[in-house]
Amino acid sequence: MDFKEKVAEIFISIETELSMEEALQLIEIPPSADMGDYAVPCFKFAKKYRKSPAAIANDLVEKIGQVNEFEKIESAGPYVNFFVNKEQFAEQVLNRAFEEKEDYGSTNIGEGKTVIVEFSSPNIAKPFHIGHIRSTLIGNAINNIYKYMGYNTVAINHLGDYGTQFGMLISAYMKWGTPEVVEAIEKDPIPELLKLYVRYNQEIEKHPEYQDEARYWFKELEDGNEEALKLWAWFRDVSLKEFNRVYDMFGIKFDSLAGESFYSDKMPAIMDELKEKGLLKDSEGAKIVELSEYGLTDALVEKSDGSTLYVTRDVAAAKYRKDTYDFYKNIYVVGAPQKLHFDQWRKIIDLMGYDWAYDCVHVMFGTVSLEDGTLATRKGRVVFLEDVLNKAIEKTTEIINQRNPNLEDREKVAKQVGIGAVIFQELFNNRIKDYVFSWDKTLSFEGETGPYVQYTYARTCSLLRKADITIDSDVDFSILTNTEAFNVIKKLEGFKTALINAHDKYEPFIVTRYIVGLAQEFNRFYHECPIITDRVEVKKARLLLTLIVNIVLKKGMELLGMEAPEKM
Ligand code: ARG
Repeated sequence: MDFKEKVAEIFISIETELSMEEALQLIEIPPSADMGDYAVPCFKFAKKYRKSPAAIANDLVEKIGQVNEFEKIESAGPYVNFFVNKEQFAEQVLNRAFEEKEDYGSTNIGEGKTVIVEFSSPNIAKPFHIGHIRSTLIGNAINNIYKYMGYNTVAINHLGDYGTQFGMLISAYMKWGTPEVVEAIEKDPIPELLKLYVRYNQEIEKHPEYQDEARYWFKELEDGNEEALKLWAWFRDVSLKEFNRVYDMFGIKFDSLAGESFYSDKMPAIMDELKEKGLLKDSEGAKIVELSEYGLTDALVEKSDGSTLYVTRDVAAAKYRKDTYDFYKNIYVVGAPQKLHFDQWRKIIDLMGYDWAYDCVHVMFGTVSLEDGTLATRKGRVVFLEDVLNKAIEKTTEIINQRNPNLEDREKVAKQVGIGAVIFQELFNNRIKDYVFSWDKTLSFEGETGPYVQYTYARTCSLLRKADITIDSDVDFSILTNTEAFNVIKKLEGFKTALINAHDKYEPFIVTRYIVGLAQEFNRFYHECPIITDRVEVKKARLLLTLIVNIVLKKGMELLGMEAPEKM
């Protein structure tokens, strides 16, 4: 039994009408150590005893008396504060962690459940830019965390590989696709395709008929015109090659790349179903689903030329996912500007009679802008994600060359640290917060940063390498009761809670803050308490603590998508 459960048990033995669950919910973690490790507020009992909560807290302390697992139990105002027995606490936490090793902090709350995490989902033939970093990294971390909580996860990259913009691109290529252009695309696909797209958009102003031509080509594509299909497949191929370079740098893998085009042939069935269920309405030749009575704008689901739309493809995708994976939750990691889209889409699914509409979750995040304004691909205001990573690696290389020129595997470490810094910073804040991208901030490695955590991890590795004894949990735990050691152990005990919170709220930053907090506590311990000493018993105990910190830091970084170099 853990200490929190023990507190609950003590309470239900006195307040017998409380259930274990209620008692557990009542328990708080005090904001500072002098208020103990657990606290129970007594407001709830004021009615029953017709006394002030403070008086009740006093009475309760008396009734509880001495308990072996706690150093002291005292009242403070309306609270009963519990101070754990530090030695027993150390023994319990470290024993468990030592036993569970790489599984420490994991749960089985997701057992038997499949969760879809859709993330990244860039539009092909367009730059993979800093704006995509958010969905890509937040989504990857959520996917990792869910997996660690025991779910069967399916990571989907819902590529934006369909829609009128491909009609534009095909039409532009038909007009201007000289052999030189083809060669340029082969060499440097995204910027060249972007040029075609930008030019097409500009010329539409002079040639309004281009709009119709683009629509025509998209319709042809949907109807399976071979020439259109071939071109589209080529655009998709070259784009994916580019995206994959960045995914590889991040070490991100998807289970499925079923993007918008994948649902092309599933569209007629969805349209039929909408019709059958009486949800379609004609609107100047196009088809809409009326949503005004739900406080939403109507959704356009089919254009007058019969071509489908983004929202229709999303309806088809959700239904396909339910049929294929029977998901417990279907998570979309997509920016806040698409809130209306997802609200409309969920309502349509609800109106179709599917109660799993509400198992679909839009996990939103705030926008990234640039110091000189918002990102605007068409105006050339864009920072390529790959450039960000390469610069971070360059800067790390410089620092390593200055401080540690003899490091083994310098190149590999520079990559791990540079990219780790970018990931850590991206996942450091509440996801809904907007932010302005700044090179300075991204490349600053001081303070609460990825490199700081990685450095602390490397420090634990170095200590463990220096250990000339076997590390096990057969140690004198009374050695680990001083403040610095105890603070580290308390932090370690909170790992699972942090993960569960991150899971409940879809907030990887809870894990980021957790690991940097653990690193800070460990460094305080390291500076106060010599680990490699001649006193064997002391060394044994402190190395055990070091080992567990090592395991948890590594796991935390891994869940965020960071690598953990053993030497830095
Ligand atoms: N491709 C879209 C974009 O870049 C994001 C797709 C989000 N996912 C979805 N199922 N609609 O804006």
